[in-house]
Formats: sequence, C-alpha cells, structure tokens
Amino acid sequence: MNNSGYEAWLRYDAIEDEQLVQSYRKYTQEIIVAPKLEAGPIQSAVIELQLAIPKLVGMTSTINEGQAVNDNFIVVGTKDSISYISDAVVGPIAALSSNEGYVIKTITSEQCSYIVVAGATDKATLYGVFHLLRLMQQGESVEALNIQEAPKYELRMINHWDNMDGSIERGYAGQSIFYRDNELLVDSPRIADYARLMASIGINGIAINNVNVHHHETFLITQKLLPKVAQIATIFRSYGIKLFLSVNYAATIELGEVDSADPLDERVQEWWKRKAAEVYAAIPDFGGFLVKADSENRPGPFTYGRDHADGANMLAVALQPFGGLVLWRCFVYDCHQDWRDRSTDRARAAYDHFKPLDGRFLDNVILQIKNGPMDFQVREPVSPLFGAMEQTNQVMEFQITQEYTGQQRHVCYLVPQWKEVLQFDTHRKGEGSTVQEIAAGNIHPYSHSGIAAVTNIGDDDNWTGHHLSQVNLFGYGRLLWNPEQSSEQIAQEWTALTFGTNRQVQQMINTFLMESWSIYESYTSPLGVGWMVKPHYHYGPDIDGYEYSKWGTYHFADHKGIGVNRTVADGTGYIGQYEAANAQVYEDINTCPDELLLFFHHVPYTHVLHSGKTVIQHIYDTHFTGVERVRYWISQWNELNDLIDSERHTHILGRLEVQLENAKQWRDIVNTYFYRKSGIEDDAGRTIY
Ligand code: GCU
Repeated sequence: MNNSGYEAWLRYDAIEDEQLVQSYRKYTQEIIVAPKLEAGPIQSAVIELQLAIPKLVGMTSTINEGQAVNDNFIVVGTKDSISYISDAVVGPIAALSSNEGYVIKTITSEQCSYIVVAGATDKATLYGVFHLLRLMQQGESVEALNIQEAPKYELRMINHWDNMDGSIERGYAGQSIFYRDNELLVDSPRIADYARLMASIGINGIAINNVNVHHHETFLITQKLLPKVAQIATIFRSYGIKLFLSVNYAATIELGEVDSADPLDERVQEWWKRKAAEVYAAIPDFGGFLVKADSENRPGPFTYGRDHADGANMLAVALQPFGGLVLWRCFVYDCHQDWRDRSTDRARAAYDHFKPLDGRFLDNVILQIKNGPMDFQVREPVSPLFGAMEQTNQVMEFQITQEYTGQQRHVCYLVPQWKEVLQFDTHRKGEGSTVQEIAAGNIHPYSHSGIAAVTNIGDDDNWTGHHLSQVNLFGYGRLLWNPEQSSEQIAQEWTALTFGTNRQVQQMINTFLMESWSIYESYTSPLGVGWMVKPHYHYGPDIDGYEYSKWGTYHFADHKGIGVNRTVADGTGYIGQYEAANAQVYEDINTCPDELLLFFHHVPYTHVLHSGKTVIQHIYDTHFTGVERVRYWISQWNELNDLIDSERHTHILGRLEVQLENAKQWRDIVNTYFYRKSGIEDDAGRTIY
C-alpha cells in the first residue's frame, strides 16, 4: 500500500471482512453502462470503478453495454440511457432539486438484484459512483440502498493562487501542479488525479491561476497559452469540472493592445468581446473570469473614475453570449492607510464600496465576498456585505489554505469555522436569513450563487503538506454538497476513508480535529482581535508586526487595554453595517460574544468576560492551555504508533512536534507582551518572561 498520502481519501484499502467482501463482489462482478460511452464523466466513473473494485474486493468487473448477463450487477448511467434505470428510478431522479443530484438504489426482483447509480446528467452520475465507493470504503451494506442526494449549492468552486513560475501564493504544500518555469504542465498525470479528487467531493468549477495576475499569467487568455489551457479544461471536463481563469483587469494594457482599461472605452469593450470569443472557441464550456480589481495594488476601474459595476459589467457583456460568468472579488480596501488615522476602518471597506452598487450588476456577475470583513483570520465576524445586496448575485469565499491558521504545519480543522459562518443569521430578510440559505439563493432571488475557496494543494506527495490538512479540502467539498452534515460527521467520514475503520484511530483523530481550531486560536491572537503575525509571512507571533503599518490591521494595545472600537456610538461605525438584530448584540459590550469582543470593542485588561475571567487572565490561560493541549495530543498520537502505517504516523508526529515548539513561542511572546504592557500578574503564577 502506498502511504505517501497521494491517494488521499481515494485509497480504496482492501476490505478485510470476508463476508462484506462477498456481499460487494456479488454486485461488482458486472457493471452495465450505456452503449458506446464517449469520454466524459460517465466514462470517468467507470474508470474509477475499475480502479477501486480490484483494490477493495480483489476482483475485476466485467463491463457490459445495456444488458446484464448475471443476476447481480451495478448499473451506471443517466436517467434514460439504460432500461434498468428508466424502468426503476426515473421518478426519483425527476424529483431531485438539481440536475447534479443522483439516485443510488438497490433493486431486487425475483429474477435479479442490482444497484442503480443514476443522475440526470453525466456528472451527477459520476458523483453517485463516488458516493457508492465511499459507502463501500466505510463497510456499509449495499443490499437495500435507497439514496437520493443533490447538492445544496450551484457553484462549488475552488480557486488556485498558483503562479506560472510554479510558486503558489499562500501555498504550503510545494509547487504548483499546473505550472513550472512559466509553462503549463499539461502532460502531468497529477492534473487528472487532482480532477478525480475534486469530482469525488463534488467540486464543479476551478480557477487555475492566482487572483494576482502578473505578466506571464496575463497571456493565459491569448493564443500563446490558450491551447494548453484548453487541454487542462478537457481533463477537467471529463470530471464534470468547468475551468475558470483569473484575468488581469488591465490585460488590454499589459498585452500592449489598447492603451487603456477604461470600462467605458469602446475599444476596451470590443477587445474583451473578441477575447471572450477567442477563449470560447478554444474552450466551449469555459466557466468565466475571476477578477481581483482595485485591490492590493492590482489595476481596476477606479483608475478611470469608474466604479466596480462599470468594470464587472464590461467583462460580463463580453462573456454573456457564451454563458460565461464574472466572479468579481470584493476584497477592496485601502492598503496604503496611515496607522495614525483612526477614522478609516478596513473592516468597513467592502460594504462601503459595494453596497451602494446593488442593482447595477448584470445577471452574469457574481460578487465573491470573503467570509470575514478583514482577511481569513482565525476568528472574525461574518462579513456584513454577505446578503446585504438583494439584487446582486453573491458567492462566499473561504480559505482552505491555512494562511492565518497554521500554514499546514499546525492542525486546524476548518469545517467548524465554516459551519459557524454558514449558520450565521444575517437577519437580512428577517429571522432565518442565514448565510447557508443566502449562498444557496434561497433568501434573495439570485440567479447564481454558491461558495468558493482558496485551495491548499501543491505538488507535495500528499497534496497538502500536512496529511491532516487533507481533511480541510475534503471537508470543504462535502460541506458544500450538504451543509446540514455536522463537522463531526465530515471528520469521521474523512478519517475512515483515509485511515481506515479502526475505532481507536478514528476516535483519536476525530476528537483532535474537532478541538484543533480552538487550540490554534487559543495560543495565537485572542478574542477576535486578529493579526499579531509576522508581516508578509503571516506565521509566527509578532504582536506589533502590523501595528504601525499601512495595511489597516491594528489591535491598539496600550498599558490600559486592547481592541478596536467599531461601535456606532463612538467607534468606527462598522457595527452599523449589520442588520439591527446583530448590530445590537455587537454594539453592547454586555451582549457581544467573548470570542469577538476585541474585534468590536476596546476594553481594559481588567474587563470581565462572560466566562467570568478578565481579558488579561483569559489571554494567559488560553495561551498556557493551548500549548498543553498540543502536548497532550502528541502523547495520544504516540499511542497510535502500531495502528497507523509508520510513514504517515512519523510524518504527522514530526509536524505535531513543530506545532508544539511554535505554540510555545506564541504563548511566551504573547503572554510576555501583555504582561509587560499591563503589569498584571497571572493568577496562577505561571512563568511569564
Ligand atoms: C491576503 C493574502 C494575499 C492575497 C489576498 C487576496 O491578503 O495575504 O496573498 O493576495 O489575501 O485575497 O487577494
């Protein structure tokens, strides 16, 4: 068995229970497909079965077209492609809420018994096959299956921050799988394996280059590189995934073709229309453009005195005839702020820029909004912009890559964080206007919606650097498919697929994963204040690293207190961007949740939290206990020594030891800083320097 981690959750480890093996073999002996399958998701599904079945149950399946020769078999196809399907599950397929949904059903008659895996579309069927394989990997019975599933979200997107030189912005798992030395790696088998992994968790759109589009990447939409991009799109297509590209807003200028990027300049508009036609000629099912404009020194419509609706619509008009989308990011703020200026609040920026534009964006524009108002911190409130624009399509942007959450050297299972975001009730249309429902287009009449996230993979053997970081990628896809699943369920499923079904292993890894976000939070920046990291790297403690910088990320700690006053009463007014029901909770220091206190309020160190502790004692306690938890988990991990292959066990142990050392560094630097600032002793008298 390959234990490098390359197979991730598609290991298909041999099933040990002989009875179970026999019960699966009964069906897996024969697979029925429609006649003359062409390249595409169903063929990919069959290839996956042919790969998985020998590994799981030690047999090869016979593939037959249309008609079975045995009494037991598996049928794979779309709703009316094969009579076994049309006879049995047409009704259930029609009843699904999305054409990406599927039915898996065991049909038993007097003559025969077979499993149907079928959806309305090819990719739906592929998703169904991955589901069936997940069940088998987890040792579930297949004798009486009756499953109907459809994804909650329309767009289930992955964003790569990969550059053509092979580097990955905020990547912690090696180099890009798509590029090296400004060339596309079209012949790399990894790309197809990656597409498999993504399809197995239901991802249906991937933007393959960094939102910061530099010189070489600007050429991805030109004849120089489009043919190779098209080759990648072909690989993705066979797994039901649409390819998207990040584009340089000022491509006209960068490519030397028009001396302007003014969205109202006809020459610019015409250029983009020609460009869109060219891209679609190469990739007929191209997804669309992802755009970071007027953000962190990237060009945008502001240069021409135009706004973001002008900019996004110009691209949308060009893509519209082909059904293409513009994903326009809202990460727009002043990154040249003067730290002395207390009236400017970066947290306000996205809402202030975009909210007034509601109703002006074309139908194929989707605003992509980071989950928090700042930047993927370990703890932030939910962005008040999400759901605030009723007439503007929106997707939420999460970050799978652990930029601020331990950079894949620390364990930090992020599904619990994302679930908190999804469950947040914005109250935009009264109670129940949760992010979860807004992103599904169920609250406002959005014509497109969903979720995107910055991925965490690279060309490391195990894809994600830390083996345990794979859970974030897996969990992201599974959560988007069905956000009703609990974080525990998702963690359990991943652990079973990745580490097998041993109880002790499962229990230990799941409990650790469930605690990991809170552990990471406890020894890093406290109570929602964020940052306090080494500038640029965003790793390791540097309490004042950003305090006197231009980036608008301050904690304002002095000898008396800490936190950012964002109240309406006498702060930056940011809280006023929330609907009243939430604004009231945040505005009042007595109702503001502890974990976000310093995000919203500046308080003395002696302020008493709901927990009963003072702020300073909370800082000391969490930083000490965080380190102890990591130490505890190392001891637990050591107990799994004989239950996990040594390759992965040793690798993870190594990372945990690094985590412990770094956590100690965080603890001592944070505690010492606040001890020296406040002069207040630790109640427990522990060592602070
Ligand atoms: C963060 C990150 C940058 C990235 C930016 C973005 O600021 O540190 O590397 O470019 O987010 O989301 O565009």
